[in-house]
This record gives sequence, C-alpha cells and structure tokens, in this order.
Amino acid sequence: MLKLKALCEAAGYDTIKGRNNELATISADLDFPRSPWGTTNTGKDPRETDPGHGRERRGMITIRPEQPGDAAAVRAVNLRAFPRPIEADIVDKLRIACPEAVSLVAELDGKVVGHILFTAVTIQIQPREIKGMGLGPMAVLPDRQNQGIGSRLVKAGLEILRQRRCPYIVVLGHAGYYPRFGFKPASQHGIRCSWDGVPDNVFMAIVFDEETMSGVSGVVRYRNEFNEAI
Ligand SMILES: CC(C)(COP(=O)(O)OP(=O)(O)OC[C@H]1O[C@@H](n2cnc3c(N)ncnc32)[C@H](O)[C@@H]1OP(=O)(O)O)[C@@H](O)C(=O)NCCC(=O)NCCS
Repeated sequence: MLKLKALCEAAGYDTIKGRNNELATISADLDFPRSPWGTTNTGKDPRETDPGHGRERRGMITIRPEQPGDAAAVRAVNLRAFPRPIEADIVDKLRIACPEAVSLVAELDGKVVGHILFTAVTIQIQPREIKGMGLGPMAVLPDRQNQGIGSRLVKAGLEILRQRRCPYIVVLGHAGYYPRFGFKPASQHGIRCSWDGVPDNVFMAIVFDEETMSGVSGVVRYRNEFNEAI
C-alpha cells in the first residue's frame, strides 16, 4: 500500500494569468479523439476552484504532449523524483499498453523537467462499464519542485480530459492538496477505490459529466499494471 500511495501523491498549484491561452494551444496541438465517451460535458470547470498563488517562473515552462523521443527523459525525471524505479517502470509500461493514456511533459529551456500520466480506469455497472481516467504517476525534477510546474501539468491534463468529455477523473493522493484542482473525496460521488485500506479522504474524484455519472456508484478499477506494482 505504501508503494501505491507513493504512486499517486501528485501535487501542484498555479497562477491563472495566461493559462487559458496556453491550454488552448495544448488542446489544439493534441489530436485527441473527440468524445470517446459519447457524452455531454456538464461538469464544473476545475479552474473555478483555483486559488492562484503566483510563484511560478512563467514564460519558460512549456506543457506539451509527450513525444516518442521523450521516453528516456521522462524516465529520468521519474527516477530522480521517486526513491524507487516503480513509477518509472509503470510509465514505461503504460505508455505502450494504455491507448487512452494522456502523457504530458513540462519543458524548461528545452529540457524535460516534469511529467504527468493519466490512464484509463473503469467502474463496472452491469451490464456496462463507465470509463474514466486516473491521474498518476506525476513527477517534477527535485530542483524544479515548488515552482508551480506540477500544478500546470495537473491543470493541463484536466483541461484536455474535460475537452475530451471524460466523465470523471480519480486520483489517490494528498487530501489537503487535490481539492484545489476540484477533486473531492470520491465517496461523495459514490465511487470507491478497489484497493483495501485506502482512507476515504485520499481517494478523490472530479466529475465532469454529471449526467453520465448520475446514479453511478461502484468500485474504480485501475489497469493491471498498477496492481502488479503493489
Ligand atoms: C508532487 C510533485 C509532482 C509536485 O510538483 P511541484 O512542481 O513541486 O508542485 P507545485 O510547485 O505545482 O506545487 C507545490 C505545492 O505542492 C505541495 N506538495 C508537493 N509535494 C507534496 C506532497 N508530497 N504532499 C503534499 N503536498 C505536496 C507543496 O507543499 C506546495 O503546496 P503549496 O502550494 O500549498 O505551498 C513533485 O513534488 C514531485 O515530483 N514529488 C516527488 C514525486 C511524487 O511524489 N509524485 C507524486 C506521486 S504520483
């Protein structure tokens, strides 16, 4: 379980200024399939909950989709940010195994300094399943942490998934941190974690599509790559 928690303790904050334009650029650059869930987005924009801190060294950081040539740099960031190679290994597996994955990098002066991954999760509601996405792992190089980079990665990822009409996103992480991005305890949405022993307040969710998620309750299942790492 400790390994599992380490996988998902993502965090970050951001300023508001200029972000709309940046996210528009990111979305335009990404040729994501439109509305893979076939639903209407009626969810609340997570930016509405952004307190805005203003500590970021804005202007030099670029958030962009991971490219094939970034794999070694992304692995290096994960290896430096985490005490074990578990997260780096998971990222290497999932970028191949998970076709829905959203993988973004933060680039500073041409160098990859941060990375975030979102991968597919499901809630089984017999006879169908409701697909969503799970945030994590994410990592920022130690000497670049607390500069707002992680926050920009989180917000960029959420914006992309909101525009893709992903119904919900879950994260296992710090209860005092994720609410600033709009996450709430998943139990408030009727969603539970599949792993035993996860405290209620650290498994969180954002619901973007209230209509699809109306009346939905159940257990969220991550991909097997995460189970294998525990
Ligand atoms: C977590 C991480 C990605 C955040 O990136 P970052 O660029 O440093 O984050 P930001 O600068 O955007 O945000 C800083 C905020 O995150 C908080 N934060 C950072 N790591 C945290 C942690 N492990 N637990 C709780 N809060 C944390 C800081 O206290 C700060 O909060 P404040 O705004 O209230 O002062 C980065 O610290 C990291 O790579 N950590 C090691 C790997 C890791 O734990 N990844 C997450 C697990 S998937």
